[in-house]
Amino acid sequence: MTKKRVLSGMRPTGPLHLGHLHGVLKNWLKLQEEYQCFYFVADWHALTTEYENPKKIPAFSRELLLEWLAVGLDPERSVLFIQSAIKEHAELYLLFAMFTPVSWLERNPTYKDMIRELKQKDLATYGFLGYPVLQAADILIYQAQKVPVGVDQLPHLELTREIARRFNYLYREIFPLPEPILAEVPKIPGTDGRKMSKSFGNAIFLNDDEETVRKKIQTMVTDVQRPRKSDPGDPENRCVAFQLIKLYFSPEEIAEIVSACKAAELGCVACKKKLAERVIDGLRPLWERRKQLEEKPGLFEEIISSGNERARKFAQKTLEEAKEALFGSKWY
Ligand code: TRP
Repeated sequence: MTKKRVLSGMRPTGPLHLGHLHGVLKNWLKLQEEYQCFYFVADWHALTTEYENPKKIPAFSRELLLEWLAVGLDPERSVLFIQSAIKEHAELYLLFAMFTPVSWLERNPTYKDMIRELKQKDLATYGFLGYPVLQAADILIYQAQKVPVGVDQLPHLELTREIARRFNYLYREIFPLPEPILAEVPKIPGTDGRKMSKSFGNAIFLNDDEETVRKKIQTMVTDVQRPRKSDPGDPENRCVAFQLIKLYFSPEEIAEIVSACKAAELGCVACKKKLAERVIDGLRPLWERRKQLEEKPGLFEEIISSGNERARKFAQKTLEEAKEALFGSKWY
């Protein structure tokens, strides 16, 4: 029995942090058990917003792949690759562009949100408008049935389905209509309580060292209505660090922490010390795997080129099939 295919991608726009680990990568890891997974670095998609500073993209791309491997994505089971290494995405994107109405793109809510949010950047470009068409090519070229994404990506996925439907209707039924996998993701707050994000300066990065993790966690906001240890706390409602504690301790341990906090027995400094050690224990296997990888010269490059090769084979086959459906025959 052939496994169903999963495809997902990430834009290389910065280092990964705990939000990515718990929100995305843990889910990707799990999906490897059940599906044939394709995971790729969407460097062309990064270019749609970073075209003024594109020199940063290669290093971020490498970093992304290193972290994926460090987290435990298995390059034997999953196909890990780089979008721009598979030119077939670009050709399918071009073919899709011919029959995709501009109105579908202009009414896309994620497009409108991003233009509004990134108003310091000029995103009135052809490439940015076409962002979801390229994403449709990424997904459909692997004939993926499932796409794990966040809610912000649902409009893009709906558009992918519309493009697949239109292709299948106009030419021939080639593309399955992909469905989202919306994982339940825990809310990961940054040290200041806002959503963890590189641009807020509140993130704990996966490649921070031990001391940095300790320091950052010690700055996490706790119950501000509890200035002294002798004041009873309300971790469930007022403590940012507690959001992380819920992820890193067992239900029994959590119950103990809550009652000690409420009884004013456990102080915030001591509590965050325990939390930091747990987070470090969680990150240690990542650091070790990454170190092993970096110690073997050429290994990383070998993994990536073999991933690219596997992706390319699949993509070539689908593209040939699509062109056959479209043009019928080749005369040259
Ligand atoms: N747009 C996605 C994001 O910003 C990245 C992406 C590009 C993607 N192509 C994809 C995700 C295909 C899933 C499938 O997160």
